[in-house]
Amino acid sequence: MTGSRVAGKTALITGAAGGLGQAMARMLVREGARVALSDLDLNGARALAEAINAEHPDMAFAYEHDVTREDDWVRVVGAAVEDMGGLSILVNNAGIGGQLLWAEQDTLENWRKVQAVNLESVMLGCKHAMAPLRASGAGSIVNISSIAGLAAAPGMGAYNATKAAVWLYTKTVALEAAKAGWNVRANSVHPVFIKTPILDPFIAMAGGDEANAHEKLARGIPLKRIGEPDDVAYCVLYLASDESKFVTGAEFKIDGGLTAQ
Ligand SMILES: NC(=O)c1ccc[n+]([C@@H]2O[C@H](COP(=O)([O-])OP(=O)(O)OC[C@H]3O[C@@H](n4cnc5c(N)ncnc54)[C@H](O)[C@@H]3O)[C@@H](O)[C@H]2O)c1
Repeated sequence: MTGSRVAGKTALITGAAGGLGQAMARMLVREGARVALSDLDLNGARALAEAINAEHPDMAFAYEHDVTREDDWVRVVGAAVEDMGGLSILVNNAGIGGQLLWAEQDTLENWRKVQAVNLESVMLGCKHAMAPLRASGAGSIVNISSIAGLAAAPGMGAYNATKAAVWLYTKTVALEAAKAGWNVRANSVHPVFIKTPILDPFIAMAGGDEANAHEKLARGIPLKRIGEPDDVAYCVLYLASDESKFVTGAEFKIDGGLTAQ
């Protein structure tokens, strides 16, 4: 089934080879957008682009992209604009969990790596995509934070810090764009546990028993389950579309009721 909720729009999705990125890419294309799929994992991004193009010809493009590198951002944004004929949506999605370490055990190496991939990347993306987003006439930035940016958990200090910073930084960018009179909106999305490879460390902690790990992760969630990638992709679709044209500087929790408690 195809629709037209983002027909004619052009999206750059980072970390597109991963669990959430793939779901977002497929959903945006199904609703009419062209997508630039960037990832450190070029083979993964290419495989996704090929699968999408087999069904929807010329809608997906793949790029190798280390989101921690400014020169990569300049190259990828330029190529995406050229290949898609513009850029109207940026989804800063690439991210890593880092090591689960309490403050006393954490290392600067782990801390800096998580900051670079999860936070500095968002700054670089907003900086280098802003000009084409403005030029599009109706730009939308969607930054993928986490419920871990709004609530802390032991062992997740580096991750908590990056995702909290993404939450507030998104509002800064939203206010700057509004103040300048650009039609560019910025919002953040805060998922709780969603079934993607980023949960692998939790499965390893459960001795490789995936069902058991998911059941443990679901325990504190009022809806008593963890999320599916499409639960997040539907929110990104709304924020990417003009349906959300009066929504900026806001945060969207996809958390099964966790933070309502
Ligand atoms: N899955 C969850 O439970 C969950 C919950 C809350 C937030 N998130 C956030 O959602 C986003 C997507 O996560 P996911 O669950 O799809 O994870 P994932 O591990 O499936 O995918 C992450 C992708 O990012 C890519 N990546 C890693 N480092 C990169 C770099 N330096 N440059 C470019 N790409 C890089 C990886 O290659 C991978 O394809 C992340 O920002 C994550 O923090 C996920």
